[in-house]
Amino acid sequence: MIISFINQKGGVGKTTLSINTASLLSQSGHKVLLIDADKQGSATTWASLRDDTGFQVVSMARENMAKDALFLASEYDYTIIDAPPHAEGVSRSCVIASDIVVIPIEPSGLSTWASDITIQQVQQAMEYKETLKCGFVVSRKIGNTVIGREVRNMVEDTGIRIFNADIQNRVAYAESITMGQTIFEWEQDKNAIQEIENLTKEIIYYGKKELSESTKASKSRITG
Ligand SMILES: Nc1ncnc2c1ncn2[C@@H]1O[C@H](COP(=O)(O)OP(=O)(O)OP(=O)(O)O)[C@@H](O)[C@H]1O
Ligand SMILES: [Mg+2]
Repeated sequence: MIISFINQKGGVGKTTLSINTASLLSQSGHKVLLIDADKQGSATTWASLRDDTGFQVVSMARENMAKDALFLASEYDYTIIDAPPHAEGVSRSCVIASDIVVIPIEPSGLSTWASDITIQQVQQAMEYKETLKCGFVVSRKIGNTVIGREVRNMVEDTGIRIFNADIQNRVAYAESITMGQTIFEWEQDKNAIQEIENLTKEIIYYGKKELSESTKASKSRITG
């Protein structure tokens, strides 16, 4: 399963979620690849701070990377793609390579508007890849604020699902990544750990469920 974290807007938590999701899946015994598709190389830099990550990290930030990403991913149980901001061509390649696109959005109008380009890319890709799935995750949410709830109403109009698991703004996320760690290693912030576990579970469940449903749908089309 290939899961990518994509939003054209910078700083919404793509790298933070990519690293922590990859870490959780590898801790669960899966063979995991993290593709750093951002030429800024944040995930690669994070990996360079460690002796061992528990999963493979490769840098691949090219506009025509989809085929190579799919080839590499075939050797892994899960591939996570950390997509770049402000790079439409690379982002399109990430969408094409994905089974599931996860769009982190901050509780502010700006990040939902900026994700419009990503939504367009997903909708275009869905025209020839009907199994492609997409969902928003509310990221960097501050408490149970009105604006946090409003962001859900704003994106509902797009018809794209929003995962139930929100990611709060927590110091542990920022500090752990800066120090080359994951939230599983950093001062054991139980709330952050729970959030990543909930989100990852939801993404995987959605991916598996929908993939098998669409297989059934295509079988029934064939058999009538
Ligand atoms: N849930 C969170 N709580 C607190 N800080 C966060 C959270 N998620 C991300 N951050 C911090 O916000 C900044 C941007 O996060 P991150 O690098 O994950 O975003 P990004 O979408 O990958 O950014 P870019 O578009 O530049 O690649 C970082 O300093 C990170 O530590
Ligand atoms: Mg990033």
